[in-house]
Amino acid sequence: MKLTIIGTGYVGLVTGTCFAEVGHQVICVDNNESKVKLLQSGGIPIYEPGLEELVKKNVAAGRLRFTASTKDGVENSDIIFIAVPTPPLPDGAVDLSFIEGVAREIAASMTSYKIVVDKSTVPVKTGDKVAETIKRYCKAKVEFDVVSNPEFLREGFAVEDLMKPDRVVIGVRSQRPVAAMKEVYTPFNAPIIVTDINSAELIKHAANSFLALKISYINAISVICEASGANVQEVANGIGLDARIGRRFLDAGLGFGGSCFPKDLSAFIKISDQLGYDFALLKEVQRINAQQMERFFKKITETLWVLKDKKIGVLGLAFKQNTDDVRSSPAIDLCQRLQKEGAILRVHDPKAMDKAKDVLKNVTYVENMNDVADGCDALVVATEWPEFKKLDLERTRKALTHPILFDGRNLFDLLEMEKLGFIYKSVGR
Ligand code: UGA
Repeated sequence: MKLTIIGTGYVGLVTGTCFAEVGHQVICVDNNESKVKLLQSGGIPIYEPGLEELVKKNVAAGRLRFTASTKDGVENSDIIFIAVPTPPLPDGAVDLSFIEGVAREIAASMTSYKIVVDKSTVPVKTGDKVAETIKRYCKAKVEFDVVSNPEFLREGFAVEDLMKPDRVVIGVRSQRPVAAMKEVYTPFNAPIIVTDINSAELIKHAANSFLALKISYINAISVICEASGANVQEVANGIGLDARIGRRFLDAGLGFGGSCFPKDLSAFIKISDQLGYDFALLKEVQRINAQQMERFFKKITETLWVLKDKKIGVLGLAFKQNTDDVRSSPAIDLCQRLQKEGAILRVHDPKAMDKAKDVLKNVTYVENMNDVADGCDALVVATEWPEFKKLDLERTRKALTHPILFDGRNLFDLLEMEKLGFIYKSVGR
């Protein structure tokens, strides 16, 4: 099928590439010309495991190409996916100006029937607005259908999530685009849910909010565990084996961050409010998340007391493992709090140091994770990178002036840390 994806961010670029990988003809459009040039020359603007190889393979096979022209994309495809950012506004609502702008551009270039699919996370009822906009700005007055097809990929696992989705949600206003949309997704062998547009849009916000709720729930349990001497990982394993609950997204720690959960929660609370419902449950999810960071920070200050001029090593800057994304990263937030109190930081991240340099200044970026602790008063683990489990703990203990390790992601074994002689503080255990 001939497909165009507008927006080459985490969602758009991976989606376009995976569509090409299963045999579709894909054009990826971005209005950032330097990004398009980079992609055309074989460069990849983000780190996502497996992506670079897939892009190269599909460009070479002639199934994937990049352009800065929306007109080119619209004229040469039947289905156009919108995958542009929907950033938060200061009041928690969503900035839909990129969606509106792209809808207008698509409308201006349409000369025959097109299916316009929204992939970006948007508030319920956005589909209606996109349809109105296209109708208003399409001079050629051709027929079109608007579809909602929310994306559920996780950064760091995006290729895997896209190639093997748990489900595909297709929201439509009429039956006309259904067959073509199903054909797009047939190669992925996933259950397909066809529903109305409002429900499809709501599925995305409801899913992300529920996952955030799950994390806040286990973080609240971690507080009870600390107060009672229980171990949150044991509790998570015990409740997670109940198939109705499931073990995933029950890892207590510094709380959730990233460009999705915090933003989507605020947006969902806002929309619910506009629809006449006070979603207090989700406000509590936000409150627990903020408190989790406070509690961890307090653990550090209670142990180290005055932070001014203390040298602290920090492992992890990305908002989670397997990504170079530092947007709304709890790790960066923690670093900035430590800096505010006068601490001197030595930091390391396997992939996110370049991006972190834009937001985290006046720290020493250390290339090798085993060198971070050198001369530090304490070491902090802030991101759940699996490679941190391979840290040379013997060397780290000797490198620290005091063997204090704060583990915000519960990566290490309690007994082993005790045996190695660490003063080891983790979350909920
Ligand atoms: C999330 C959803 O998981 C995706 O399904 C969705 O498509 C995406 O948002 C989106 O809306 O685009 P993502 O933000 O990439 O994906 O990352 P997650 O793996 O969900 O992690 C989010 C945050 O929760 C991270 O800061 C992570 O450290 C934290 N987390 C996750 C925990 O603290 N504990 C857990 O058990 C799991």
